[in-house]
Amino acid sequence: MKPSVGIEALAVALPRRTLHLEDLARARGVDPAKFIAGLGVREMAVTDPGEDSVALAATAARSLLEANRIDPTSIGMLAVGTETGVDHSKPVASFVQGLVGLPRQMRVFDVQHACYGGTAALMAAAEWIASGVAGGKSALVVCSDIARYGVKTAGEPTQGAGAVALLVSARPELFALDLGVDGTSSAHVFDFWRPLGRREAVVDGHYSIDCYLEALSGAYRDWRGKAEAREIVRRNGTSLPSEQLAAIGYHVPFCKMAKKAHARLRRCDLDDVLGAFDEIREERDGAASFERQVAGSLTLYTGSLYLGLAGMLHTGASGLAGKRIGLFSYGSGCASEFFSGVVGKAAAESIARARLDEVLGARERVTVEEYERLMGLPPDAPPDIAPAPGQFRFTGIQEHRRQYAAG
Ligand code: COA
Repeated sequence: MKPSVGIEALAVALPRRTLHLEDLARARGVDPAKFIAGLGVREMAVTDPGEDSVALAATAARSLLEANRIDPTSIGMLAVGTETGVDHSKPVASFVQGLVGLPRQMRVFDVQHACYGGTAALMAAAEWIASGVAGGKSALVVCSDIARYGVKTAGEPTQGAGAVALLVSARPELFALDLGVDGTSSAHVFDFWRPLGRREAVVDGHYSIDCYLEALSGAYRDWRGKAEAREIVRRNGTSLPSEQLAAIGYHVPFCKMAKKAHARLRRCDLDDVLGAFDEIREERDGAASFERQVAGSLTLYTGSLYLGLAGMLHTGASGLAGKRIGLFSYGSGCASEFFSGVVGKAAAESIARARLDEVLGARERVTVEEYERLMGLPPDAPPDIAPAPGQFRFTGIQEHRRQYAAG
């Protein structure tokens, strides 16, 4: 029997402020419906000076440890998935280890592959535990990023920031991974990248959507083949394999992407399993299946798969307990993975400890003028305010060393 490994608990850290997309649309002379209905985005997180990827990651990690009363010595691996490094050599994870007070006896490293890095870290951690070499220790995986495209660019309304800390262990109260049942699809493409020295990403947005959908088709089919072999899903004539998942979370650079992704995923099943595609019927069935399987993961309006998972469990953990869900992770460049697992019986209690309503409710609306001022600040501008209790903030650089303060 395969060991049960997965996510025991999670915690989230978000920037203090958000920009409402209707405000941005008006300032840009764009119909607000384009951002709100067309892209599916209502708000985007805006970082203050001091809220860098380290500060967000450390805040999420400390919150996870405190809320779940985790003994730091029980952790033997710290892996941060990020594409927003603060140094060419020293990883974000190293700062987090020091700020949070984790022990010396552990593996500490970053994983970089655009938005996929966190998934690579999660899989490395889970397989390390499942292999038995972890010796009973848990892993701390943190996904932390700031997506920045720049003022008045096409990507501007799809920016955002945040961090999610995951406790990965052999007690997967939140989500037990189907180990070995994962589908991958990766290719060397230039859909989104950030050359050294640039703060803003370069993105070929429409091409990136195509790359994402192509990767999804490949990863999903790969997963489905393994899932059928393990009889996790079946070709039974009454439901599509993907419909046998209680919920599906997609990586969402903007929420509308989940709609495009879900339509593509169903298309894979309809073409391969039924061998037929009825456009009129699919318009009805696809919309109903989107509401049932996907909408719950979009409650945090988020670009991160794991914030999406947090949102899905925040709104529906008790209904999903004991049920299998699917997750699709995509990182431009590109690497992707479709994987599945079972929501834990204690998921509702575990996610409640993340106090997501409190984290979301603490955010303040920022004006477009203030957002533009923030975007114009130099990368290492000192913060205007001290960190709130429980938070970390970057405070400046002394002799090339980044400094942080704890609230
Ligand atoms: N009312 C309602 N919908 C509207 C609208 C209006 N007035 N005007 C446009 N729309 C819709 C469009 O039909 C389109 O929907 P569709 O894709 O379902 O057809 C959507 O709004 C976006 O419009 P579009 O013209 O394609 O926007 P754009 O060219 O300005 O750019 C992105 C959109 C997503 C390509 C751009 O924001 C981007 O590059 N973002 C970054 C994406 C990314 O992060 N990729 C990498 C990581 S995966």
